[in-house]
Amino acid sequence: MPKLSLIALDGPSGVGKSTAAKRIAQELGWNYLDTGAMYRVTALALQRAGVDLADRTALEALLSSLRIEQRGTRSFLNGEDVSDAIRTPEVTKLVTPVSADARVREVLVDQQRAIGASGGWVVDGRDIGTVVFTNACCKIFLTASAEARAQRRFLELQTKGFTTSYEEILADQQRRDHADTTRAVAPLRKAEDAVELDSSDMDLDQVVSWIVAQHRKG
Ligand code: DC
Repeated sequence: MPKLSLIALDGPSGVGKSTAAKRIAQELGWNYLDTGAMYRVTALALQRAGVDLADRTALEALLSSLRIEQRGTRSFLNGEDVSDAIRTPEVTKLVTPVSADARVREVLVDQQRAIGASGGWVVDGRDIGTVVFTNACCKIFLTASAEARAQRRFLELQTKGFTTSYEEILADQQRRDHADTTRAVAPLRKAEDAVELDSSDMDLDQVVSWIVAQHRKG
């Protein structure tokens, strides 16, 4: 299979994939696709429509009318900017079962492949190197210890004035890690041909430089 000029960036939640991916895309003059945001927009659409995943007919109708777009770093649901609405704790909870649904994944993976097919994209997610773009020329599996990820998130929330405790953040992180790695469909795992980068002791600049260098090495 010919290689596609695309960076597949996978890893657990809270590892800083999207921040790194945006910067990498900027440096290379490429586009950035946040596939997690697509699952979040779908979860929000289900929540708003009051559709339960168990109601397959309603789910199918919703999926066929769903129009998800990303313009720059903003996400749109049927033309409405929902970038903030998809980051609430409610959507973050609901997106776990939504992203574990095989039919939802089928629909979104098709859209992701259509978007990235021409190359020149940095795509972040959980299954980009293993399922969506198995032919990506550069696959990175970005990790950091659960404690390092929770600590970063804790400091970030503190500077924004939130009072969530470190323990709560760590527990939520562990819940999501467990759900992402143990689900039946497209679980989070490193692709065989991916390069793993443990960023526990690295800052953002170091992560970005490392991945760009890895990409240029080819
Ligand atoms: O990266 P994030 O936290 O915004 O992702 C939201 C959810 O979607 C998270 O539960 C993992 C899931 N996800 C997925 O299953 N596959 C992807 N390619 C991207 C995200």
